[in-house]
Amino acid sequence: MFRNVIYLIVAGLFSGAVSAQSSRTSKSVIPVGTTLTLKKSFANYFPIGVSVSPSNLVGREAELIVQQFNSLTPENVMKFGPLHPEENRYSWGGADSVVAFAEANKMKVRGHTLIWHQQNPAWLFLDAKGDTVNREVLLSRMKSHIETVVKRYKGRVYAWDVVNEALDDDSTRYLRNSPWFNICGEDFIEKAFQYAHQADPEAILFYNDYRTEHPERRERIYKLLKRLKDSGVPVHGVGLQGHWNLKDPSRQQLVKTIDRFRSLGLQVQVTELDISVLPEKKDRDSIWLAAPDMYTAEIEQQHIAQYEQVFNVFKAYKDYLSGVTFWNLSDKDTWLDQTPSAKGKRNFPLLFDADLQPKKVFYRVIDVVKP
Ligand code: GLA
Repeated sequence: MFRNVIYLIVAGLFSGAVSAQSSRTSKSVIPVGTTLTLKKSFANYFPIGVSVSPSNLVGREAELIVQQFNSLTPENVMKFGPLHPEENRYSWGGADSVVAFAEANKMKVRGHTLIWHQQNPAWLFLDAKGDTVNREVLLSRMKSHIETVVKRYKGRVYAWDVVNEALDDDSTRYLRNSPWFNICGEDFIEKAFQYAHQADPEAILFYNDYRTEHPERRERIYKLLKRLKDSGVPVHGVGLQGHWNLKDPSRQQLVKTIDRFRSLGLQVQVTELDISVLPEKKDRDSIWLAAPDMYTAEIEQQHIAQYEQVFNVFKAYKDYLSGVTFWNLSDKDTWLDQTPSAKGKRNFPLLFDADLQPKKVFYRVIDVVKP
């Protein structure tokens, strides 16, 4: 039933032959004509994805998703906590609905994420008495979770972020002090990849992290991945999250990062792309308070320039880049409005505005690959 409804929506969209020009002036329908879409523009380059919640998969948001993208990443519903809230209970509804929507609309699905230090259920690291479990118990819980989840979506989820953000923020340390690391030791990472590979030998397995373009972090991640590759661990790709801003990364940093990881024979994907228009640290609180008006013409030009720069690199590196996924659909609903939180804060990181209309930056990204 659900699938049929989606088919009808999509059939309607594509039979409409709405021209880009006329539709751009209307706010009641999806404004971008079917000739001007991200997925068609990048068809010869790489899949173009977006992260979604089940609530995005109805109405105008669903139409826009189907029209523009050919890959989905569940934003939250496949994380350990939401998916496996109690030891003997999985909550499949959200994840199943994202996978079903993708299949009904012939889209790929990236699974996100099997092992992370955040969004875990309360039971995971504790025994019945409330004491921390030992390594053996935690590894067996990890194995059971990964097997159950990866097998359920075998052949339907083509790639998994197996381990997310294992690196410490402190540059003097190597791996993050997470419960996974503290309880199991460093090899929790290779175990996770091995369990995932056993569960679905065809799935492409990624290590995913942020600030991967900063030389110091890049080299620590390189060291981790090299060690995994050298010991035969089935890791196939590295995900650059791509939570970037107007100045970061530079072209050179991005190029160097892709070169460095491809030298290990790994696929590279940009897995969580958004470009914040707010500075990363200094003075950001005061700027956030002024944020509702801050997408000025000048900021917009800088935003366009940074998107053009990174997409020009993606285009040049298409042989090594196997996917680019945006983190959230539009400025209506971006995690950057909430994290870190500041009252009244707004950000404008995406290609579609809060009314789902394409911004100037959308057209300029498409222009990057215009014949
Ligand atoms: C990290 C995670 C994502 C998401 C973002 C913030 O990048 O990998 O799943 O939680 O933080 O929304």
